[in-house]
Amino acid sequence: MENWSPDSWRSKPIVQQPVYPDTDALAAVEKQLSSFPPLVFAGEIRSLTRSLAKVSAGEAFLLQGGDCAESFAEFSANKIRNTFQVLLQMAVVMTFAGSCPVVKIGRIAGQFAKPRSAGTEIIDGVELPSYRGDNINDIAFTAEARTPDPQRLIAAYHQSVATLNLLRAFASGGFADLHKVHRWNRGFIDKSPQGEKYQHLADQITQTLAFMDACGINSQNTPQLHETSLYTSHEALLLNYEQALTRQDSLTGDWYDCSAHMLWIGDRTRQPDHAHVEFLRGVHNPVGIKIGPSTKLPDLLRLLDLLNPARTPGRITLIARMGADQITELLPPIVRGVKASGHPVVWSSDPMHGNIMKASSGYKTRSVEAILKEMKGFFEVHRAEGTHAGGVHFEMTGDDVTECIGGAFQISEQDLGDRYHTHCDPRLNADQSLELAFLIADTLKAARS
Ligand code: PEP
Ligand code: CO
Repeated sequence: MENWSPDSWRSKPIVQQPVYPDTDALAAVEKQLSSFPPLVFAGEIRSLTRSLAKVSAGEAFLLQGGDCAESFAEFSANKIRNTFQVLLQMAVVMTFAGSCPVVKIGRIAGQFAKPRSAGTEIIDGVELPSYRGDNINDIAFTAEARTPDPQRLIAAYHQSVATLNLLRAFASGGFADLHKVHRWNRGFIDKSPQGEKYQHLADQITQTLAFMDACGINSQNTPQLHETSLYTSHEALLLNYEQALTRQDSLTGDWYDCSAHMLWIGDRTRQPDHAHVEFLRGVHNPVGIKIGPSTKLPDLLRLLDLLNPARTPGRITLIARMGADQITELLPPIVRGVKASGHPVVWSSDPMHGNIMKASSGYKTRSVEAILKEMKGFFEVHRAEGTHAGGVHFEMTGDDVTECIGGAFQISEQDLGDRYHTHCDPRLNADQSLELAFLIADTLKAARS
């Protein structure tokens, strides 16, 4: 990698960064983080790249999901378990409907830092720095809380370590057993007002499991039915943290950002000549690029050349977040241009970030209806262009929050205040997430055939 080093991003223009009042304290924290163990290791990252290469070839599907922003307040074993559980439940439905493996990636164990629409926030005439995520400052609206504190990076690191530790235990310790996951899905169908719609698919899975059991394929003798893998991801926004966790693989000599398996570049930080692209250019992790309505094809092609000059399949995932009303208009020329360039990419749909609205009560929300519409539009575009609609990217939680409106349980604008806990964007709750998985099952099936 020419002219790249873990700190070469520091000489480039950069946006969406906090201003730390004490830069010596920040440097001391970076040094400390650099001495800490990595969260993931290069071999795991390479295996994710291989799995994503299968997605880009149309042989697998990607499910990426989790919090908009993890927080120190919402940190508990139950919360981690619930999110993992819903991801597993969604993956089973998608695996069956699409008849292909589902690669699971959490927005978890490091998803703290947030880009903001403005650097400061004004309430009642008082102007303070915007909240940028719990690893940077506190959400409370006081001058002290909003001052970036580097010690928060250490706290976020330890929270990520503990989260990942539990996820690894769940993935291999029997929690992810396919029979168990299917039983949870049956429980969901029984209580859902729309459950009848999903009954047929669930019955088919029940029959398939019984058939496999009769053939002697069961959890005792087949690890694939008993264990799973969940990869981690977050937006590589705060590069001081990312650099500190970047390590050179002793086996290959390549550099990996060992804070997570996959990193993505946000819609606001994908300028080809800026710091975020510079940093991610040199690490060998799979990289996601958010593409919103302002995406220009020539810029995107330049980004692809910069980030994946070797055209390695699985290296790049393009995450479209155009908005429900714009996706079928804005995505086709981009898909055509990328296809013509010959760059292998995973096409994924983030139906969340283009569909944010403000409820009359003032809450930031999204509707299940708009989310479903954008996803359907995404599949439609890929069917028309002959490309593989490879994945979905959700902001979701396993908890029973009331942040997005609609869905079978009919969360209304009036309900938003009941359990609105997110530190940033509104998340789908467990029921809404599962419902979407069932609702896109037919589309997945059609896309496969
Ligand atoms: C996000 O994924 O939380 C996010 C901020 O997305 P985007 O960069 O697409 O707006
Ligand atoms: Co978000």
